[in-house]
Amino acid sequence: MNDKQIGTFFDSLSEDYTAVIERCFPRYREMLWALLDYLPTDKPIGSILELGCGTGNLSVLLANAFPAASIRVVDVSRESLELSRARLDDSRFAFEERDFRDLSCDSNSLDLVVSSIAVHHLTSLEKRRLFAQIYDWLKPAGTFCFADQFRGATEDLYQRHIHHWHEQSMAAGSSSDEWEMWMDHQLEHDFHDSLTDQVDWLRDAGFSIIDCPWRYLLWAIVQARKS
Ligand SMILES: C[S@@+](CC[C@H](N)C(=O)[O-])C[C@H]1O[C@@H](n2cnc3c(N)ncnc32)[C@H](O)[C@@H]1O
Repeated sequence: MNDKQIGTFFDSLSEDYTAVIERCFPRYREMLWALLDYLPTDKPIGSILELGCGTGNLSVLLANAFPAASIRVVDVSRESLELSRARLDDSRFAFEERDFRDLSCDSNSLDLVVSSIAVHHLTSLEKRRLFAQIYDWLKPAGTFCFADQFRGATEDLYQRHIHHWHEQSMAAGSSSDEWEMWMDHQLEHDFHDSLTDQVDWLRDAGFSIIDCPWRYLLWAIVQARKS
């Protein structure tokens, strides 16, 4: 993936992003709600990292859910990051224009790492590397939770997911042009890996408690906890 290209793609979409994603994926808001709702509650959360914050839809929810936390948000799209900054005029936030493949954090420094629809922009190898880094950055009992698009275990399952996604996107008001725009983007920038592969990679990275608390077609939320 070329980070400049993906940044440019999301720069150009940034003003319309929320309307487009809500048409394209009618259960987007439910997915963000579920990502937060299923987080463990047995440990205080003081330090959060969000990867690929985009225009800040999840960041706003994090700010409300964790009023005492410091929150570092990272995105490669300057325009999206600016919109996030405008929405989140809050000294607890640190905004960083950066490719999250080049990110560094101190070991054992974070309580929570989250991401929504961003990790699938990485290749399989890059995902594996990121999962190992996140494991290192998290404090003991820290949580990594990401919502994303996943390939099916078979090509048939995957194509059925795409088929139903297309139908639902159209029913929610997307146009053929908008659908084509996403499919072109997908061909160039998206690297869907299966849920089971990614669970294996999380286990390889050291995570022990791994689950999928929510799933709908090719979207799922995966939660993994450091021992
Ligand atoms: C589909 S948007 C999701 C935005 C937001 N998280 C949401 O749920 O609506 C993907 C975001 O990830 C960012 N992104 C993709 N790959 C990235 C990378 N390697 N480093 C930093 N940001 C990245 C894009 O710029 C974009 O803002």
